[in-house]
Amino acid sequence: MTLCEYRPGLEGIPATQSSISFVDGQAGKLEYRGINIEDLAHHSSFLETAYLLIWGTLPSQPELDAFEHQIRYHRRLKYRIRDMMKCFPESGHPMDALQACAAALGLFYSRRALDNPVYIQKAVVRLLAKIPTMVAAFQLMRKGNDPVQPRDDLDYAANFLYMLNEQQPDPLAARIFDICLILHAEHTINASTFSAMVTASTLTDPYAVVASAVGTLAGPLHGGANEEVLEMLQNIGSVENVRPFVDRCIEQKSKIMGFGHRVYKVKDPRATILQKLAEQLFEKFGQDHYYAIALEMEQAVSEKLGHKGIYPNVDFYSGLVYRKLGIPTDLFTPVFAIARVAGWLAHWKEQLGENRIFRPTQVYTGERGQPYVNLSNRPHTWDQQKFQISLSS
Ligand code: SDX
Repeated sequence: MTLCEYRPGLEGIPATQSSISFVDGQAGKLEYRGINIEDLAHHSSFLETAYLLIWGTLPSQPELDAFEHQIRYHRRLKYRIRDMMKCFPESGHPMDALQACAAALGLFYSRRALDNPVYIQKAVVRLLAKIPTMVAAFQLMRKGNDPVQPRDDLDYAANFLYMLNEQQPDPLAARIFDICLILHAEHTINASTFSAMVTASTLTDPYAVVASAVGTLAGPLHGGANEEVLEMLQNIGSVENVRPFVDRCIEQKSKIMGFGHRVYKVKDPRATILQKLAEQLFEKFGQDHYYAIALEMEQAVSEKLGHKGIYPNVDFYSGLVYRKLGIPTDLFTPVFAIARVAGWLAHWKEQLGENRIFRPTQVYTGERGQPYVNLSNRPHTWDQQKFQISLSS
Protein backbone atom coordinates (compact mmCIF):
# COMPACT_ATOMS: atom_id res chain seq x y z
CA MET A 1 0.00 0.00 0.00
CA THR A 2 1.51 3.40 -0.99
CA LEU A 3 1.94 5.96 1.80
CA CYS A 4 0.03 9.21 1.00
CA GLU A 5 1.83 12.52 1.44
CA TYR A 6 1.26 13.97 4.95
CA ARG A 7 -1.22 16.89 4.82
CA PRO A 8 -1.63 18.95 8.05
CA GLY A 9 -5.24 18.80 9.20
CA LEU A 10 -5.82 16.15 6.50
CA GLU A 11 -6.48 19.04 4.11
CA GLY A 12 -7.88 17.68 0.85
CA ILE A 13 -7.57 14.04 1.99
CA PRO A 14 -10.81 12.01 1.55
CA ALA A 15 -11.55 10.21 4.85
CA THR A 16 -14.72 8.49 3.66
CA GLN A 17 -17.18 8.04 0.82
CA SER A 18 -20.53 9.67 1.54
CA SER A 19 -23.80 10.53 -0.19
CA ILE A 20 -25.17 12.79 2.56
CA SER A 21 -24.07 16.28 1.52
CA PHE A 22 -21.98 18.04 -1.09
CA VAL A 23 -20.04 21.32 -0.97
CA ASP A 24 -18.55 23.19 -3.94
CA GLY A 25 -16.15 25.58 -2.20
CA GLN A 26 -15.29 27.55 -5.32
CA ALA A 27 -18.89 28.12 -6.40
CA GLY A 28 -20.27 28.47 -2.86
CA LYS A 29 -22.75 25.63 -3.21
CA LEU A 30 -24.15 23.33 -0.49
CA GLU A 31 -26.56 20.43 -1.10
CA TYR A 32 -28.12 17.91 1.31
CA ARG A 33 -28.82 14.63 -0.51
CA GLY A 34 -28.58 16.60 -3.78
CA ILE A 35 -31.10 19.30 -2.78
CA ASN A 36 -29.58 22.79 -2.61
CA ILE A 37 -29.59 24.56 0.75
CA GLU A 38 -31.54 27.54 -0.58
CA ASP A 39 -34.52 25.31 -1.52
CA LEU A 40 -34.41 23.49 1.80
CA ALA A 41 -34.26 26.78 3.72
CA HIS A 42 -37.25 28.08 1.75
CA HIS A 43 -39.48 25.00 1.66
CA SER A 44 -38.40 22.53 4.37
CA SER A 45 -38.47 22.24 8.16
CA PHE A 46 -35.61 21.12 10.39
CA LEU A 47 -37.23 17.78 11.21
CA GLU A 48 -38.01 17.08 7.55
CA THR A 49 -34.38 17.96 6.69
CA ALA A 50 -33.10 15.75 9.53
CA TYR A 51 -35.18 12.87 8.14
CA LEU A 52 -33.76 13.54 4.65
CA LEU A 53 -30.17 13.54 5.94
CA ILE A 54 -30.54 10.43 8.12
CA TRP A 55 -32.77 8.22 5.99
CA GLY A 56 -31.74 9.59 2.58
CA THR A 57 -35.09 10.67 1.13
CA LEU A 58 -37.71 13.34 1.81
CA PRO A 59 -40.42 11.72 3.99
CA SER A 60 -43.99 11.13 2.86
CA GLN A 61 -46.66 12.89 4.93
CA PRO A 62 -47.33 9.75 7.06
CA GLU A 63 -43.57 9.24 7.57
CA LEU A 64 -43.09 12.88 8.60
CA ASP A 65 -46.13 12.81 10.92
CA ALA A 66 -44.84 9.64 12.61
CA PHE A 67 -41.31 11.09 12.97
CA GLU A 68 -42.61 14.36 14.44
CA HIS A 69 -44.87 12.43 16.84
CA GLN A 70 -41.95 10.29 18.04
CA ILE A 71 -39.79 13.39 18.58
CA ARG A 72 -42.55 15.11 20.58
CA TYR A 73 -42.96 11.98 22.73
CA HIS A 74 -39.25 11.77 23.58
CA ARG A 75 -38.48 15.43 24.36
CA ARG A 76 -38.61 14.97 28.15
CA LEU A 77 -35.50 14.17 30.22
CA LYS A 78 -34.98 11.52 32.88
CA TYR A 79 -35.19 13.30 36.25
CA ARG A 80 -31.72 11.94 37.09
CA ILE A 81 -30.25 13.94 34.21
CA ARG A 82 -31.97 17.09 35.47
CA ASP A 83 -30.70 16.31 38.98
CA MET A 84 -27.19 15.85 37.55
CA MET A 85 -27.45 19.32 35.95
CA LYS A 86 -28.28 20.81 39.38
CA CYS A 87 -24.71 19.86 40.41
CA PHE A 88 -23.13 21.74 37.49
CA PRO A 89 -21.53 25.11 38.35
CA GLU A 90 -23.59 28.06 37.02
CA SER A 91 -20.34 29.42 35.58
CA GLY A 92 -19.76 26.27 33.52
CA HIS A 93 -19.96 26.64 29.75
CA PRO A 94 -23.20 25.25 28.28
CA MET A 95 -21.23 23.18 25.75
CA ASP A 96 -19.53 21.32 28.60
CA ALA A 97 -22.92 20.79 30.22
CA LEU A 98 -24.31 19.49 26.94
CA GLN A 99 -21.41 17.12 26.40
CA ALA A 100 -21.85 15.70 29.90
CA CYS A 101 -25.60 15.23 29.41
CA ALA A 102 -25.24 13.66 25.96
CA ALA A 103 -22.80 11.11 27.37
CA ALA A 104 -25.09 10.54 30.35
CA LEU A 105 -27.88 9.44 28.01
CA GLY A 106 -25.73 6.39 27.35
CA LEU A 107 -26.19 5.40 31.02
CA PHE A 108 -29.91 4.98 30.40
CA TYR A 109 -30.12 3.82 26.79
CA SER A 110 -26.78 2.35 25.82
CA ARG A 111 -27.46 -1.41 25.50
CA ARG A 112 -25.56 -1.44 22.21
CA ALA A 113 -27.51 -3.18 19.44
CA LEU A 114 -26.06 -1.53 16.39
CA ASP A 115 -27.30 -4.27 14.11
CA ASN A 116 -30.90 -3.61 15.21
CA PRO A 117 -32.72 -0.97 13.10
CA VAL A 118 -35.16 -0.30 15.96
CA TYR A 119 -32.23 0.55 18.29
CA ILE A 120 -30.78 2.87 15.61
CA GLN A 121 -34.15 4.57 15.07
CA LYS A 122 -34.76 5.05 18.81
CA ALA A 123 -31.27 6.48 19.33
CA VAL A 124 -31.82 8.96 16.49
CA VAL A 125 -35.18 10.06 17.93
CA ARG A 126 -33.92 10.32 21.52
CA LEU A 127 -30.87 12.42 20.63
CA LEU A 128 -32.75 14.77 18.28
CA ALA A 129 -35.59 15.11 20.80
CA LYS A 130 -33.63 15.50 24.03
CA ILE A 131 -30.67 17.71 23.09
CA PRO A 132 -32.79 20.92 22.83
CA THR A 133 -34.44 20.14 26.19
CA MET A 134 -31.01 19.74 27.78
CA VAL A 135 -29.76 23.07 26.40
CA ALA A 136 -32.87 24.93 27.59
CA ALA A 137 -32.91 23.19 30.97
CA PHE A 138 -29.31 24.15 31.75
CA GLN A 139 -30.07 27.76 30.82
CA LEU A 140 -32.95 28.00 33.31
CA MET A 141 -31.21 25.99 36.04
CA ARG A 142 -27.99 28.03 35.91
CA LYS A 143 -30.23 31.06 36.64
CA GLY A 144 -31.62 29.22 39.67
CA ASN A 145 -34.96 28.39 38.09
CA ASP A 146 -36.75 25.09 37.47
CA PRO A 147 -36.66 23.99 33.84
CA VAL A 148 -40.00 24.06 31.98
CA GLN A 149 -41.42 20.94 30.41
CA PRO A 150 -41.59 20.76 26.60
CA ARG A 151 -44.95 21.74 25.05
CA ASP A 152 -46.34 19.06 22.75
CA ASP A 153 -48.50 21.60 20.94
CA LEU A 154 -45.43 23.46 19.67
CA ASP A 155 -43.23 22.38 16.78
CA TYR A 156 -39.51 21.67 17.20
CA ALA A 157 -38.18 25.20 16.80
CA ALA A 158 -41.01 26.97 18.66
CA ASN A 159 -40.77 24.50 21.53
CA PHE A 160 -37.05 25.17 22.00
CA LEU A 161 -37.56 28.94 22.11
CA TYR A 162 -40.47 28.41 24.54
CA MET A 163 -38.38 26.20 26.86
CA LEU A 164 -35.57 28.76 26.72
CA ASN A 165 -37.50 32.00 27.22
CA GLU A 166 -40.60 30.60 29.01
CA GLN A 167 -42.90 32.29 26.53
CA GLN A 168 -44.45 31.24 23.24
CA PRO A 169 -42.31 32.69 20.43
CA ASP A 170 -43.54 34.96 17.63
CA PRO A 171 -44.30 32.77 14.57
CA LEU A 172 -41.73 34.62 12.41
CA ALA A 173 -39.07 34.14 15.09
CA ALA A 174 -39.88 30.42 15.32
CA ARG A 175 -39.76 30.00 11.53
CA ILE A 176 -36.43 31.84 11.29
CA PHE A 177 -34.99 29.69 14.06
CA ASP A 178 -36.17 26.57 12.24
CA ILE A 179 -34.35 27.76 9.10
CA CYS A 180 -31.19 28.37 11.15
CA LEU A 181 -31.36 24.74 12.28
CA ILE A 182 -31.65 23.61 8.64
CA LEU A 183 -28.59 25.69 7.70
CA HIS A 184 -26.48 24.26 10.53
CA ALA A 185 -27.61 20.61 10.21
CA GLU A 186 -24.86 19.16 8.03
CA HIS A 187 -21.64 20.07 6.25
CA THR A 188 -19.75 17.01 4.91
CA ILE A 189 -16.64 15.96 6.88
CA ASN A 190 -16.12 18.94 9.18
CA ALA A 191 -14.11 18.44 12.38
CA SER A 192 -17.01 17.47 14.66
CA THR A 193 -18.53 15.12 12.10
CA PHE A 194 -15.14 13.50 11.56
CA SER A 195 -14.88 13.15 15.35
CA ALA A 196 -18.28 11.46 15.35
CA MET A 197 -17.19 9.08 12.59
CA VAL A 198 -13.92 8.11 14.28
CA THR A 199 -15.79 7.42 17.52
CA ALA A 200 -18.54 5.54 15.65
CA SER A 201 -15.98 3.37 13.85
CA THR A 202 -15.09 1.61 17.14
CA LEU A 203 -18.77 0.51 17.39
CA THR A 204 -19.38 2.35 20.65
CA ASP A 205 -22.87 3.66 21.41
CA PRO A 206 -24.40 6.69 19.60
CA TYR A 207 -24.51 8.73 22.82
CA ALA A 208 -20.72 8.50 23.11
CA VAL A 209 -20.51 9.42 19.40
CA VAL A 210 -22.55 12.60 19.92
CA ALA A 211 -20.70 13.48 23.16
CA SER A 212 -17.43 13.22 21.22
CA ALA A 213 -18.73 15.48 18.46
CA VAL A 214 -20.08 18.07 20.93
CA GLY A 215 -16.62 18.37 22.46
CA THR A 216 -15.09 18.94 19.04
CA LEU A 217 -17.69 21.47 17.92
CA ALA A 218 -17.03 23.61 21.01
CA GLY A 219 -13.63 24.82 19.79
CA PRO A 220 -13.32 28.47 18.56
CA LEU A 221 -11.94 27.37 15.20
CA HIS A 222 -15.14 25.37 14.60
CA GLY A 223 -18.58 25.79 16.13
CA GLY A 224 -17.34 28.02 18.92
CA ALA A 225 -16.64 30.82 16.42
CA ASN A 226 -20.23 32.14 16.45
CA GLU A 227 -19.91 33.13 20.11
CA GLU A 228 -16.47 34.67 19.44
CA VAL A 229 -17.84 36.73 16.52
CA LEU A 230 -20.36 38.57 18.67
CA GLU A 231 -17.74 39.25 21.34
CA MET A 232 -15.44 40.53 18.57
CA LEU A 233 -18.14 42.89 17.24
CA GLN A 234 -18.84 44.11 20.79
CA ASN A 235 -15.13 44.73 21.41
CA ILE A 236 -14.79 46.65 18.13
CA GLY A 237 -17.73 48.76 19.25
CA SER A 238 -18.10 51.09 16.24
CA VAL A 239 -17.86 51.13 12.44
CA GLU A 240 -14.87 53.49 12.69
CA ASN A 241 -12.90 50.91 14.67
CA VAL A 242 -13.39 48.12 12.13
CA ARG A 243 -10.57 48.79 9.67
CA PRO A 244 -7.91 49.45 12.34
CA PHE A 245 -8.99 46.17 13.98
CA VAL A 246 -8.72 44.25 10.72
CA ASP A 247 -5.32 45.79 9.98
CA ARG A 248 -4.08 44.76 13.45
CA CYS A 249 -5.27 41.18 12.92
CA ILE A 250 -3.51 40.96 9.58
CA GLU A 251 -0.34 42.47 11.01
CA GLN A 252 -0.38 40.04 13.94
CA LYS A 253 -1.45 37.15 11.64
CA SER A 254 -4.33 36.44 14.06
CA LYS A 255 -7.50 34.78 12.78
CA ILE A 256 -10.60 36.94 12.40
CA MET A 257 -13.54 34.99 13.81
CA GLY A 258 -16.36 34.19 11.39
CA PHE A 259 -14.12 34.39 8.35
CA GLY A 260 -12.30 31.81 6.28
CA HIS A 261 -13.06 28.16 5.62
CA ARG A 262 -11.18 25.03 4.71
CA VAL A 263 -13.50 24.43 1.76
CA TYR A 264 -15.30 27.68 0.85
CA LYS A 265 -13.06 30.19 -0.94
CA VAL A 266 -16.06 32.47 -1.55
CA LYS A 267 -18.79 33.68 0.83
CA ASP A 268 -20.41 30.72 2.59
CA PRO A 269 -23.91 30.34 1.08
CA ARG A 270 -25.27 29.86 4.59
CA ALA A 271 -23.89 33.29 5.57
CA THR A 272 -25.85 34.86 2.73
CA ILE A 273 -29.10 33.26 3.91
CA LEU A 274 -28.42 34.09 7.57
CA GLN A 275 -27.84 37.72 6.62
CA LYS A 276 -31.29 37.86 4.99
CA LEU A 277 -32.85 36.23 8.07
CA ALA A 278 -31.19 38.82 10.29
CA GLU A 279 -32.58 41.63 8.13
CA GLN A 280 -36.09 40.14 8.39
CA LEU A 281 -35.80 40.09 12.17
CA PHE A 282 -34.46 43.66 12.28
CA GLU A 283 -37.38 44.85 10.13
CA LYS A 284 -39.92 43.35 12.53
CA PHE A 285 -38.20 43.65 15.91
CA GLY A 286 -35.82 46.60 15.48
CA GLN A 287 -32.26 47.14 14.30
CA ASP A 288 -29.10 45.79 15.94
CA HIS A 289 -26.28 48.32 15.81
CA TYR A 290 -23.71 45.52 15.58
CA TYR A 291 -25.05 44.76 12.10
CA ALA A 292 -23.51 47.93 10.65
CA ILE A 293 -20.19 46.91 12.21
CA ALA A 294 -20.55 43.43 10.71
CA LEU A 295 -21.26 44.84 7.24
CA GLU A 296 -18.16 47.08 7.45
CA MET A 297 -16.18 44.06 8.67
CA GLU A 298 -17.26 41.97 5.70
CA GLN A 299 -16.31 44.79 3.31
CA ALA A 300 -12.92 45.37 4.90
CA VAL A 301 -11.93 41.70 5.18
CA SER A 302 -13.09 40.91 1.64
CA GLU A 303 -10.98 43.82 0.34
CA LYS A 304 -7.87 42.81 2.26
CA LEU A 305 -8.09 39.00 2.39
CA GLY A 306 -10.46 38.15 -0.45
CA HIS A 307 -7.46 37.27 -2.63
CA LYS A 308 -6.73 34.45 -0.15
CA GLY A 309 -10.32 33.19 -0.31
CA ILE A 310 -11.17 34.60 3.11
CA TYR A 311 -14.87 35.51 3.24
CA PRO A 312 -17.66 35.25 5.84
CA ASN A 313 -18.49 31.71 6.93
CA VAL A 314 -21.63 30.35 8.59
CA ASP A 315 -20.61 31.74 11.99
CA PHE A 316 -20.32 35.38 10.97
CA TYR A 317 -23.98 36.45 10.89
CA SER A 318 -25.60 33.63 12.88
CA GLY A 319 -24.96 35.30 16.23
CA LEU A 320 -26.83 38.45 15.18
CA VAL A 321 -29.87 36.28 14.36
CA TYR A 322 -29.67 34.36 17.64
CA ARG A 323 -29.26 37.58 19.64
CA LYS A 324 -32.48 38.95 18.15
CA LEU A 325 -34.21 35.67 19.05
CA GLY A 326 -33.25 36.20 22.70
CA ILE A 327 -30.62 33.46 22.77
CA PRO A 328 -27.70 34.23 25.15
CA THR A 329 -24.27 34.45 23.47
CA ASP A 330 -22.81 31.38 25.20
CA LEU A 331 -25.74 29.31 23.90
CA PHE A 332 -24.90 30.04 20.24
CA THR A 333 -22.69 26.95 19.96
CA PRO A 334 -25.13 24.64 21.80
CA VAL A 335 -27.73 25.81 19.26
CA PHE A 336 -25.28 24.87 16.51
CA ALA A 337 -25.03 21.43 18.21
CA ILE A 338 -28.83 21.03 18.34
CA ALA A 339 -28.87 21.27 14.54
CA ARG A 340 -25.67 19.35 13.82
CA VAL A 341 -26.86 16.29 15.72
CA ALA A 342 -28.80 15.52 12.52
CA GLY A 343 -25.61 15.49 10.43
CA TRP A 344 -23.63 13.57 13.05
CA LEU A 345 -26.34 10.90 13.22
CA ALA A 346 -26.56 10.70 9.43
CA HIS A 347 -22.82 10.04 9.20
CA TRP A 348 -22.96 7.63 12.18
CA LYS A 349 -25.63 5.58 10.41
CA GLU A 350 -23.78 5.74 7.06
CA GLN A 351 -20.50 4.73 8.76
CA LEU A 352 -22.15 1.67 10.36
CA GLY A 353 -23.32 0.61 6.91
CA GLU A 354 -19.75 0.02 5.75
CA ASN A 355 -17.61 0.32 8.85
CA ARG A 356 -13.85 0.02 9.20
CA ILE A 357 -12.17 1.42 12.32
CA PHE A 358 -10.31 4.68 11.65
CA ARG A 359 -6.62 4.13 12.27
CA PRO A 360 -4.44 6.41 10.06
CA THR A 361 -0.69 6.29 10.04
CA GLN A 362 1.95 8.95 10.80
CA VAL A 363 5.26 10.35 9.54
CA TYR A 364 7.59 9.54 12.44
CA THR A 365 9.98 12.42 13.21
CA GLY A 366 11.42 11.21 16.56
CA GLU A 367 14.65 9.45 17.56
CA ARG A 368 15.25 5.71 17.24
CA GLY A 369 17.42 3.26 19.30
CA GLN A 370 17.77 5.54 22.37
CA PRO A 371 19.27 4.06 25.62
CA TYR A 372 17.39 4.16 28.97
CA VAL A 373 19.31 6.56 31.32
CA ASN A 374 18.87 5.99 35.06
CA LEU A 375 17.45 8.94 37.01
CA SER A 376 20.67 9.34 38.96
CA ASN A 377 22.60 9.77 35.72
CA ARG A 378 20.38 12.48 34.26
CA PRO A 379 21.27 16.25 34.35
CA HIS A 380 19.94 18.07 37.45
CA THR A 381 18.32 20.88 35.40
CA TRP A 382 14.68 22.13 35.28
CA ASP A 383 13.65 23.21 31.78
CA GLN A 384 10.61 25.47 32.42
CA GLN A 385 10.12 25.95 28.65
CA LYS A 386 9.26 22.27 28.25
CA PHE A 387 6.04 22.84 30.24
CA GLN A 388 4.90 25.90 28.24
CA ILE A 389 2.76 25.20 25.16
CA SER A 390 2.44 27.73 22.35
CA LEU A 391 -1.10 27.84 20.90
CA SER A 392 -0.95 27.72 17.12
CA SER A 393 -4.39 27.98 15.52
C1 SDX B 1 -17.15 26.10 10.91
O1 SDX B 1 -15.36 22.48 8.08
C2 SDX B 1 -16.57 22.94 8.13
O2 SDX B 1 -17.40 22.71 7.28
C3 SDX B 1 -16.89 23.78 9.37
C4 SDX B 1 -18.25 24.45 9.35
C5 SDX B 1 -19.38 23.45 9.47
O3 SDX B 1 -20.49 23.77 9.03
O4 SDX B 1 -19.16 22.39 10.13
O5 SDX B 1 -18.42 25.22 8.17
C6 SDX B 1 -18.41 25.38 10.58
O6 SDX B 1 -16.37 25.65 11.72
C7 SDX B 1 -16.85 27.40 10.21
C8 SDX B 1 -15.46 27.99 10.59
C9 SDX B 1 -15.60 28.74 11.91
N1 SDX B 1 -14.27 29.18 12.39
C10 SDX B 1 -13.89 30.46 12.34
O7 SDX B 1 -14.58 31.38 11.90
C11 SDX B 1 -12.51 30.72 12.94
C12 SDX B 1 -11.69 31.59 12.00
N2 SDX B 1 -11.35 30.85 10.80
C13 SDX B 1 -10.05 30.24 10.71
O8 SDX B 1 -9.53 29.76 11.92
C14 SDX B 1 -9.88 29.31 9.51
O9 SDX B 1 -10.36 29.97 8.41
C15 SDX B 1 -10.49 27.92 9.55
C16 SDX B 1 -10.14 27.19 10.79
C17 SDX B 1 -11.97 28.00 9.43
C18 SDX B 1 -9.93 27.17 8.34
O10 SDX B 1 -8.59 27.04 8.57
P1 SDX B 1 -7.58 26.37 7.51
O11 SDX B 1 -8.30 25.83 6.34
O12 SDX B 1 -6.69 25.46 8.27
O13 SDX B 1 -6.79 27.63 6.98
P2 SDX B 1 -5.39 28.10 7.52
O14 SDX B 1 -5.48 28.37 9.00
O15 SDX B 1 -4.36 27.16 7.03
O16 SDX B 1 -5.23 29.51 6.78
C19 SDX B 1 -4.81 29.60 5.43
C20 SDX B 1 -4.38 31.04 5.25
C21 SDX B 1 -3.39 31.49 6.33
O17 SDX B 1 -2.62 32.55 5.78
P3 SDX B 1 -1.08 32.22 5.29
O18 SDX B 1 -0.35 31.68 6.50
O19 SDX B 1 -1.23 31.18 4.17
O20 SDX B 1 -0.57 33.54 4.81
O21 SDX B 1 -5.53 31.91 5.40
C22 SDX B 1 -5.35 32.72 6.55
C23 SDX B 1 -4.28 32.08 7.40
O22 SDX B 1 -3.62 33.05 8.19
N3 SDX B 1 -6.64 32.72 7.27
C24 SDX B 1 -7.10 33.75 7.97
C25 SDX B 1 -8.35 33.32 8.48
N4 SDX B 1 -8.58 32.07 8.09
C26 SDX B 1 -7.52 31.70 7.34
N5 SDX B 1 -6.58 34.97 8.20
C27 SDX B 1 -7.34 35.79 8.99
N6 SDX B 1 -8.55 35.45 9.51
C28 SDX B 1 -9.08 34.24 9.28
N7 SDX B 1 -10.25 33.92 9.80
